[in-house]
Amino acid sequence: MRTGIYPGSFDPVTMGHWDVILRAEKLVDRLIVAVLHNPAKQGAFSVEERVGFLRELVAPLPNIEVTSFHGLLVDYAKQMEASFIVRGVRAFSDFEYEFQMALMNRKLAPDLETVFLMPKEKYSAVSSRLVREIGGMGGNLSDLVPESLRERIAAKLLQG
Ligand code: PNS
Repeated sequence: MRTGIYPGSFDPVTMGHWDVILRAEKLVDRLIVAVLHNPAKQGAFSVEERVGFLRELVAPLPNIEVTSFHGLLVDYAKQMEASFIVRGVRAFSDFEYEFQMALMNRKLAPDLETVFLMPKEKYSAVSSRLVREIGGMGGNLSDLVPESLRERIAAKLLQG
């Protein structure tokens, strides 16, 4: 059984994340989408909300689980018996951070492989940070976040 883990903040999930989830799901028997629980960083959405949004999206896909985790990703991946980490790379600008993280995770857990997937080009500029900024100012979130979640994400961001 091949298990992959796709970790992130998902604050909130974007179309870019969703695109990566759909690509990763085809490569594994079991995909764990893992939301980082970072007590030091208050998000726009609670971890429960982020997990809830992701669970709604993946409901039709039985090989995907959505969870949250604390602490080191490599420890959680081991606990979940994942053999590789999935990360999305949108543009060259993502590369340095991703490269550093992948090499550090490899140092900590040499058997855990990091796999990079590229979302569709039309999502290259989509990030949770920009979604939060645009949504906070009442901008249109169409094609930035999954349509079924758009109104709820927009309403929460507008509340501030
Ligand atoms: O969506 P993000 O914020 O880019 O995801 C970053 C994430 C959650 C993958 C990264 O911060 C992480 O793995 N954090 C867990 C703590 C950890 O393992 N740190 C060492 C990374 S080398």
